[in-house]
Amino acid sequence: MSLAGKHIIVGLSGGIAAYKTLSLIRLLVKNGASVKTVATPNALHFVTKLSLQTLSKNNVYNDVFSDINDFSTEHISLADWADAMVVAPATANIIGKFANGIADDALSTIFLALNKPVFVAPTMNSRMYENPAVQQNLQTLIERGIHMIEPPIGELACGDEGKGRMEEPEVIYERIAGFFLTSQTFSGKKILITAGPTYEAIDPVRFIGNHSSGLMGVCIADEFANQGADVILVCGPSAIKSKNPIVKRIDVVSAKEMFETCKKHFETADITICSAAVADYAPKQIAEQKIKKKDESLVIELAKNPDILGYLGEQKTEKQVLVGFALETENEFLNAENKLKSKHLDMLILNSLNDEGAGFRHQTNKVSMLFANKETKHFELKSKQDVAKDIVNEITHYIF
Ligand code: CTP
Repeated sequence: MSLAGKHIIVGLSGGIAAYKTLSLIRLLVKNGASVKTVATPNALHFVTKLSLQTLSKNNVYNDVFSDINDFSTEHISLADWADAMVVAPATANIIGKFANGIADDALSTIFLALNKPVFVAPTMNSRMYENPAVQQNLQTLIERGIHMIEPPIGELACGDEGKGRMEEPEVIYERIAGFFLTSQTFSGKKILITAGPTYEAIDPVRFIGNHSSGLMGVCIADEFANQGADVILVCGPSAIKSKNPIVKRIDVVSAKEMFETCKKHFETADITICSAAVADYAPKQIAEQKIKKKDESLVIELAKNPDILGYLGEQKTEKQVLVGFALETENEFLNAENKLKSKHLDMLILNSLNDEGAGFRHQTNKVSMLFANKETKHFELKSKQDVAKDIVNEITHYIF
């Protein structure tokens, strides 16, 4: 696959495998990518600046404080320029800095400033690799959505056998190219997603909420972003973080806040997916002070919240795709069909609380998809990440 037009930062830290990075740079350039390199001082003990400069056809960024070039805020402009960064070799030291937000050299500074996909190819002695501190740092980075290119098992520079040598340049290249290949699908498309629960305040300390974790919506947001979309995630209170840094998250608390935020972004959205478990009702009055216990019973009057999905269905144009969720406990398909029609949806994802492992508080989900043309598809119980892939895959048919 060609990487024509792609801007890749190649970051090098100080490991002997840096010599292999020269081949990676050649491969990237040969396949059409524009490459800029960033090297730590230690990396330049293993490869020269001249080699990096000659192969990448660009200056090497290695000094945050240099005054003889255009590097004044280079870490920001480089971050804006890049479509992705690959760090190879990534030593235990640079992985530790990445995981802990330390920015004391050009490479770790760029890493913090970059909100683009990052590939990391760890390289070190196998005992260092297996050290719990290193493993924990790697895990932290994986959880933050870094694409880890695991070291293969083999002979290490020190003569030991084990896991820790840098993956071959061809394999690293394939990972990056593969990422861009799948990431093209939704490029240029704007996606609006609601996720999580809403909290409806009763008084300054209490609220009406629900058990939604937000995981399903976050997975859908990540999957669209992985496929190149411009994603806005409007999320109720949820501790689940996106893995893809491209997702723009707007945190909200109540249904009304979620509604106002969606109204702002809906008009320009190509595809909107409402996966949030929005509270249908909210206390009519929010008590200014904490409600004290007095009588044997307490009545709180509730007023209907705006139906966000219903409103968007009324506003939707021919070109826009609108997808809703339904969580039903009885008469699932009949209720779902009615919802699809009454809210003017293109597609409705149904999960039933009667299915084991589906719905709230599970890592898995079992869904059926109902379409405006009356077609229905049933899916097996899967991880929410895989369900998100199925959903995005079905939506692909709508827009192409
Ligand atoms: N939804 C919404 N705003 C609301 C309520 C629901 O946007 N105030 C959206 C949800 O995000 C979901 C869909 O509507 O995509 C279905 O929600 P659900 O609560 O199952 O259905 P309701 O339309 O609220 O109907 P009912 O509660 O009667 O089942």
